[in-house]
Amino acid sequence: MKVDVLLGLQWGDEGKGKIVDVLTPNYDVVARFQGGPNAGHSLEFENQKFVLHTIPSGIFRENTVNLIGNGVVLDPVIFKEEIDKLKEQSIDLTTKLLLSKKTHLILPTHRALDTAAEAAKGKTKIGSTLKGIGPTYMDKTGRNGLRIGDILSLDFIKKYTFLKEKHKKILKSYNFELNIEAYEKLWFQGIELLKKFQIVDGEYFINEKINAKQKVLAEGAQGTLLDIEYGSYPYVTSSNTISAGACTGLGVAPKQIGEVFGIFKAYCTRVGSGPFPTELFDETAKKLAKQGNEVGATTGRARRCGWLDLPALKYAIMVNGVTQLIITKADVMDNFDSIKIAVAYRTSEGVSKQLPYNVNDIEKPVYQEFKGWKTDLSACKKRSDFPQEFLDFLEFIETETGVPITIISVGPARSATILLIKNTKTLKTWL
Ligand code: GDP
Ligand code: IMO
Ligand code: MG
Repeated sequence: MKVDVLLGLQWGDEGKGKIVDVLTPNYDVVARFQGGPNAGHSLEFENQKFVLHTIPSGIFRENTVNLIGNGVVLDPVIFKEEIDKLKEQSIDLTTKLLLSKKTHLILPTHRALDTAAEAAKGKTKIGSTLKGIGPTYMDKTGRNGLRIGDILSLDFIKKYTFLKEKHKKILKSYNFELNIEAYEKLWFQGIELLKKFQIVDGEYFINEKINAKQKVLAEGAQGTLLDIEYGSYPYVTSSNTISAGACTGLGVAPKQIGEVFGIFKAYCTRVGSGPFPTELFDETAKKLAKQGNEVGATTGRARRCGWLDLPALKYAIMVNGVTQLIITKADVMDNFDSIKIAVAYRTSEGVSKQLPYNVNDIEKPVYQEFKGWKTDLSACKKRSDFPQEFLDFLEFIETETGVPITIISVGPARSATILLIKNTKTLKTWL
């Protein structure tokens, strides 16, 4: 079977964790392919809430194996915290969770470097989660990194010390006061915990599953507009968040990719710095933030809010090859009189429907207004229950993008999910 990919089409936090959990019963394997503990994927079921940072969101379902792929960067301290929390819930992971040998490790000094680099940027800071993501990927591409496979080697401590000393020299140039002893102790405890898991050659593991006709779901982190290549550079993360990242991050050939599920909120949010064309600063922004509970799942920071941005959504669909759309959080606007969607941008050179090289060149978005549906969407169980105004909103997006919306999420819980039967042909592949 082919590998399906589920990824965010905006600036992250689109509801990936929730939907991966909903889809997991249809898959044998769920695999994270990039990012690290900068991610915060929330899940809710049976009145329990969980936030996962490194562990794939398929972990709560029986019979599905979860893999942390080689494109991920892993902090053993945060990993151990996640495992300990899941253990409290009697969820045993040692047989259900596998680690790839080629996954890179986030060192305590990578976190320090992240903090130092952000502080040095001053007003131009990225607004990083400060989890050490950027410095770890820099060491990966700089060919200095440590990988999970290294923890089993006899000279692991030597390799660790060598890299740490290198980092200390850089930190000195930032005049950064390093204080990592307590964290370092936890880090080595985390390393011991990693050894209890099955550490596999992730690329062989996944391809064996594909050849055995098993179903694999690749779970993206962050979102397309945070992609290192195609996002709003330099205000991005340091990995390929797009569908191509699933190939490099898991060792899967492009021809093995099946469905690409693109997930987006019915409005937009962004946490951290950087351009945001449809950002609002008025009462509507406050209403979206309050009703949508728009607080970062990893950092607790307030998320910036604005209207849905169609040119940006189309761009994300294009670079990912999205085959099915998933819309979340439309219920947040249930009591809105009117709702806007940006359909183009006004720039100094006229009106454009393309995301410009420099997003700051956008003077203001051009909006199309829709009548609010004023209905409790969470009470709708199927497409025919939807009010006409909401159907108009959905159909506008489908027509403009040319991609069917096949899943509608109308609340944080697993159960608040509507699978549309309109597109039976594509749905059959995973239902
Ligand atoms: P992720 O990073 O893409 O997994 O998303 P986050 O978990 O960071 O943020 C999404 C937030 O929205 C979480 O608090 C979810 O519980 C919540 N959520 C997901 N889908 C819906 C939805 O359809 N409606 C509402 N109201 N909340 C949702
Ligand atoms: P999930 O998977 C939202 C943002 C940070 C910052 C930028 C770079 O939950 O959707 P980094 O720590 O990667 O150096 O930060 O990217 N960012 C996220 N925003 N959701 C995420 O993940 C994010 N991961 C990183 O706020 O602007
Ligand atoms: Mg999140």
